[in-house]
Amino acid sequence: MKGKIKMNLKERLEEIKQKGLEEIRHAQDVKTINDVRVNLLGKKGSITEVLRGMRDLSAEERPKVGSFANTIRDELTQAIAQKNEELEALKLAKRLESETLDVTLPASPVATGTPHVLVQVIDEIEKLFLGMGFQVVDGPEIEEDHYNFEMLNLPPDHPARDMQDTFYITNQLLMRTQTSPVQARTMEVHDFSKGPLKMISPGKVYRRDTDDATHSHQFHQVEGLVIDKNITMGDLKGTLELIAKTVFGQNREIRLRPSYFPFTEPSVEVDVSCFKCGGTGCSVCKGTGWIEVLGAGMVHPNVLKMAGVDPEIYGGFAFGLGPDRFAMLKYGVDDIREFYLNDVRFLQQFSQKG
Ligand code: DAH
Repeated sequence: MKGKIKMNLKERLEEIKQKGLEEIRHAQDVKTINDVRVNLLGKKGSITEVLRGMRDLSAEERPKVGSFANTIRDELTQAIAQKNEELEALKLAKRLESETLDVTLPASPVATGTPHVLVQVIDEIEKLFLGMGFQVVDGPEIEEDHYNFEMLNLPPDHPARDMQDTFYITNQLLMRTQTSPVQARTMEVHDFSKGPLKMISPGKVYRRDTDDATHSHQFHQVEGLVIDKNITMGDLKGTLELIAKTVFGQNREIRLRPSYFPFTEPSVEVDVSCFKCGGTGCSVCKGTGWIEVLGAGMVHPNVLKMAGVDPEIYGGFAFGLGPDRFAMLKYGVDDIREFYLNDVRFLQQFSQKG
């Protein structure tokens, strides 16, 4: 009886093998070969079924039949793998043949960003000043009243504080209203025995203003400061002229008008000759031929003293300009809010890709 079972199992295995190999040979695609694999070797496959039947064999016969079954299983596994590989290669070859790639077709455009127009204006100014050996310094946007006002000769209750409506966070902390506090911070730590202080500081500033076409509660400034021995207003004028020519064109001229800032004495407002009409008068310069572009002056002795710099030995100039205003003038943007809406159609006009 047992011998019969053994014979049956061996014959059955042989039969499964022959039939299996036949099926493998005839398989035309990957799906069929996978079906064959499942039918032969899967959980409910015929080989597995035979192996289960080995329970009824004697302990002596079981390993013999077992090893025979294993050999057959390995043979079939290998045959399937090989056929599968062939069919996959065939499938790929067919696909390559049917799909063609036209390398002459134009590529679909990839949307890329462009530096924001204000960043471009600031970069241009930074480049100019880095070329003249200035350092570019950053300062905090949440600033102490001490640096934003007091160190700039604006003690508490000074009426000139009204010039800059301020977002206060606490009594002592505020959103900086200007980049001028970076002057004070830098002057305080500068080692003058190592040479003059020449710096600019670009960044965001905040004012408690109602947004309209010419006001934004957040905008930008670039602060400039030079402190050394024997600095004159001539140095200031030459520097400002350079900025005007770089940003608005080589034929620009500037003029200085007396003004007031608490941290400079004397203080000036700076006009640039109109880049639109060249000075004859047009709508951009409101018929005057001049456009006001920035504030500047010679650093007030009190500001030097408070930062620990001796005004008897050192002096210098400072200026503050607005990249938003520069960009509006340069590109004819008539609403400052455009810069902060981030409408891609607006921003793309300043793409540098050409
Ligand atoms: N911080 C001034 C403002 O926001 C601009 C300014 C004017 C800065 C004159 C200066 C300066 O450094 O000297 O109105």
